[in-house]
Amino acid sequence: MGTTQPALPLRGGSRIPQVGLGVFRMPTGAETRRVVREALACGYRHIDTARIYGNEADVADGVRESGLSRDEVFVTTKIWNDDQGYEKTLRAAEAALARMRFDCVDLLLLHWPVPGKRLDSWRALERLHAEGRARAIGVSNFMPHHLRELLASCREAPSVNQVELSPFLQQRELRALCEAQGIVVAAYSPLTKGARLAHPVLVRIASATGHTPAQVLLRWGIQKGLVVLPKSTQVARLAENLAALDRALGADDMAALDALEEGLVTGWDPRHAP
Ligand SMILES: NC(=O)c1ccc[n+]([C@@H]2O[C@H](COP(=O)([O-])OP(=O)(O)OC[C@H]3O[C@@H](n4cnc5c(N)ncnc54)[C@H](OP(=O)(O)O)[C@@H]3O)[C@@H](O)[C@H]2O)c1
Repeated sequence: MGTTQPALPLRGGSRIPQVGLGVFRMPTGAETRRVVREALACGYRHIDTARIYGNEADVADGVRESGLSRDEVFVTTKIWNDDQGYEKTLRAAEAALARMRFDCVDLLLLHWPVPGKRLDSWRALERLHAEGRARAIGVSNFMPHHLRELLASCREAPSVNQVELSPFLQQRELRALCEAQGIVVAAYSPLTKGARLAHPVLVRIASATGHTPAQVLLRWGIQKGLVVLPKSTQVARLAENLAALDRALGADDMAALDALEEGLVTGWDPRHAP
């Protein structure tokens, strides 16, 4: 990757930049291309899309329009639930690559642990990795019980597990399991979709350290060794969120953030999914 940003090593030898741009709920294709171009211009080197976001092609066009070379930008996409199963996953991955006009993606994830299908879908991802269509493979929304089931039967363990994660939903058991297995954890909705940005502890730490509340949340994730995937359509916020890489929080502030666990789920809740 042609970037000085911190990146975490993945199984198989590639590296994932620690801050990525999420592109869920971008208003239009043109808007997605603009945001991707602006994000890359301000220093992002990692974009997180999915078939279900409807903007894989716009993300890929934005990367091409940025003038950066394909191998300077880490792109993730995901296999949606109705595409799961061995043959369907293979076909869905080829369709995603065709939409993006890419030879391979940097990371291909199963979007959700679909019961009865996820193990077959995973075998398809193993094949796509072996064939070079995905440089790394992983899962999303896999809770400890889903991950243990997969680890018991797979040939190759996932490189990444992407889950909702913030100081308000710390996923401690899952993070410990992933760390023990060498699986990088990527935090989605790391800004709690805005729901806790006015929390007094965040506001206090932000004003004492010169960060913004959003940067405090992202900084906590970065210092925990996570990938963080904030979404914004606003250029000033893109820069603000990336600048969370710049200055560390002290141990006292990290401890105050560690005390904020409240099981806050702002999106899907896979904790009790079969
Ligand atoms: N794998 C999965 O199942 C899954 C599920 C959900 C999300 N994700 C991924 O994670 C990404 C991020 O999650 P998310 O979009 O749910 O939520 P998020 O990043 O926690 O929050 C996004 C919201 O925060 C606002 N925002 C961004 N930067 C800000 C800042 N510096 N100050 C104040 N507000 C700010 C954005 O508004 P503006 O756009 O107006 O700035 C938007 O309303 C998604 O785009 C997607 O790539 C994955």
